[in-house]
Amino acid sequence: MPTNDPHDRITQEYAGLADTYDTRWSFYVDATARATVARLPLCDSDRLLDIGCGTGVLLRRLSAIHPAARLTGVDPVPEMLAIARRRLPSAVELQRGWAETLPFADRQFDVVVSCNMFHYIAEPDTALREIKRVLRPDGRLVITDWCGDYLMCRVLDAYQRLFGRAHGRVYRTRECAALVEQAGYATVDTERYKIDWRWGLMTARFTAISD
Ligand SMILES: C[S@@+](CC[C@H](N)C(=O)[O-])C[C@H]1O[C@@H](n2cnc3c(N)ncnc32)[C@H](O)[C@@H]1O
Repeated sequence: MPTNDPHDRITQEYAGLADTYDTRWSFYVDATARATVARLPLCDSDRLLDIGCGTGVLLRRLSAIHPAARLTGVDPVPEMLAIARRRLPSAVELQRGWAETLPFADRQFDVVVSCNMFHYIAEPDTALREIKRVLRPDGRLVITDWCGDYLMCRVLDAYQRLFGRAHGRVYRTRECAALVEQAGYATVDTERYKIDWRWGLMTARFTAISD
């Protein structure tokens, strides 16, 4: 049933995509996971939350490099989580939930990461404050997503806004940093880069400012 609720649209879109997601998007997902891990400050004792973990590609990469780190993934779509569960070690915890209403107690995580998910969030300010709630004081937030600084991404954004069912919006690095800072974080750095001729990405790193 068509619906105007952004959460329903995301759930429908990814329930339908789950079975083919890894093969259809393998280059893109592997390249963005690799780029994110290379920019992720993670110690073996850290507790990390991957929001919008999808089929678990980033978590699998992290668990191979940091077997002692405590890794958790959250995603609203059961079909995506089922694939993640099959590929990940049982020590990696998976939960169903939305970035805007995370199913975790306060101050649980040292690092929160989100890869290829930020442009879906309908209420980014709510989500960023919710992420801050679950981060320890001075915890770190790392966002990898499409980067509106690149013309091609702005074109894809415009197309997806017209025809995509679940798409929200793409941000320029400056816009993303301003949004995150307003929610109570300090920018560590933002970096933009291309993974091929088409895809321009950014990875932006932040620290939660203690209240
Ligand atoms: C493009 S996929 C990315 C999956 C994975 N992070 C990756 O890089 O392959 C986007 C994922 O974000 C999830 N998602 C969308 N909106 C979300 C929200 N508001 N909160 C949490 N997850 C969300 C979707 O269910 C989907 O699994």
